Amino acid sequence: MKFLSACVFAVLGLATAVSGNAVPWERLNKNDSMLLILDLQVGLYQLVRDFDATLYRNNLIAHAAVGKLFDLPVVMTTSAQQGPNGPLPKEILEMYPDAPLIKRQGEVDAWDNADFRAAIQATGKKQIIVAGIVTDVCTTFLALSLRAEGYSVWANIEASGTTTPLIRDVSNDRMQTAGVQMVSLFSIVCDLMRDWRNTPGAATVLPWLDQYMPVYGYVARAHLAAIENGTVIPGEAGLN
Ligand SMILES: *[C@@H]1O[C@H](CO)[C@@H](O)[C@H](O)[C@H]1NC(C)=O
Ligand SMILES: *[C@@H]1O[C@H](CO)[C@@H](O)[C@H](O)[C@H]1NC(C)=O
Repeated sequence: MKFLSACVFAVLGLATAVSGNAVPWERLNKNDSMLLILDLQVGLYQLVRDFDATLYRNNLIAHAAVGKLFDLPVVMTTSAQQGPNGPLPKEILEMYPDAPLIKRQGEVDAWDNADFRAAIQATGKKQIIVAGIVTDVCTTFLALSLRAEGYSVWANIEASGTTTPLIRDVSNDRMQTAGVQMVSLFSIVCDLMRDWRNTPGAATVLPWLDQYMPVYGYVARAHLAAIENGTVIPGEAGLN
């Protein structure tokens, strides 16, 4: 009996330890969040070999465009952009002519740069949505630093890129273990929107998805076409 109780306590102890380490589920809130554009530089783009190159270009522009859709504070940073890493894509710079752009001269982890830390703190936000090149260095180092400072972090897994799928996977695991939320673009957009009837809601989010995530934009196009010009054809009738 004594042995049994010891076992039960051991199991309970383990369960407590596991739940004690688990990061509680937290929802993105557009009022509390900001968007980080981290080293998505045209030179570093060449290092991204875990996505199709055209898809990845679209993904990094879409990541940036989340800030416009939800009117989030945006902070941009680059690493040694006067060298081979190059500038941010002009599409992103044109989106945010007034957002802070911290041009780091040496710091690999953006958190090591005082101007960058000040720019994040100046937003007053505690939820940070981030994507960077490369996943294992720029994104992971910063995400872990932000977690250590008490921030909640959402890593857009479609907009960080690196050299191999193996490196991506171990880096994403490393971030996840530290409580970083690993999320898709659609997950970020829907969590920020919450309800299609909100503002921003369907009226602006559907056109946005049509531009940046056509797989859902085309759902809406097909529906529109069916309503405007559609006719039930033989074989469809009775399918619902
Ligand atoms: C954001 O703030 C507005 C204005 O205070 C409030 O109406 C809204 O419910 C908040 N949104 C969320 C998701 O908390
Ligand atoms: C419906 O048909 C009209 C006339 O052909 C066309 O102008 C319009 O673009 C169509 N709408 C959709 C959603 O396909």
